[in-house]
Amino acid sequence: MALRLGDLAPDFTAETTQGTIQFHEWLGDGWGVFFSHPADFTPVCTTELGTVAKYREEFEKRNVKTIALSVDPLASHHEWIKDINETQRTTVDYPIIADADRKIAEMYDMIHPNSLENLTVRSVFIIGPDKKIKLMLTYPASTGRNFDEIIRVIDSLQLTANYSVATPANWKDGEEVVISTSISDAQIPEKFPKGHTPVKPYLRLTPQPNK
Ligand code: BEZ
Repeated sequence: MALRLGDLAPDFTAETTQGTIQFHEWLGDGWGVFFSHPADFTPVCTTELGTVAKYREEFEKRNVKTIALSVDPLASHHEWIKDINETQRTTVDYPIIADADRKIAEMYDMIHPNSLENLTVRSVFIIGPDKKIKLMLTYPASTGRNFDEIIRVIDSLQLTANYSVATPANWKDGEEVVISTSISDAQIPEKFPKGHTPVKPYLRLTPQPNK
């Protein structure tokens, strides 16, 4: 059955550019971004893997590990990393899984044959410290992903995991958030001492609690 939000991210053993890993053990107690790309030595993928390397500080600040996957073999990944480092002016310091037998790609439903035959599409999974899937995104081969959006979702997920809030459309870190509908009006002053704006009984805004 296809994976859904809230499911446990399937565990696996994989050969990667940083050695053999057991996925859950490798994730540890933090967050993870697991993403697939169609093929090594392709232009859009080269920019994507370089961008993830350049965002290292942003991911680290949020206690997030990143890991990539394609169905190309390990030797190809190692050669391609040299190109990524050279052309994107960075250092790929996170593992790339070599999934030549497509076992992991199939487990995570990363092959969409009507879009791209036999290759993984651009899938993204954000995995929480509880190893559950918090976000799934699927992009076509021709569109490079927006990693600012992925960071934005991580900020939202980490905020909403700790406070009774949700984040509105186009929200960015530091902006007003929505008070959860499970919080009664009477509870608001104690829970949200910075104040709130009641727009409708079901739409109540408050400054971001952790800022
Ligand atoms: C690319 O990364 O540019 C790409 C990969 C596979 C198919 C099409 C484009």
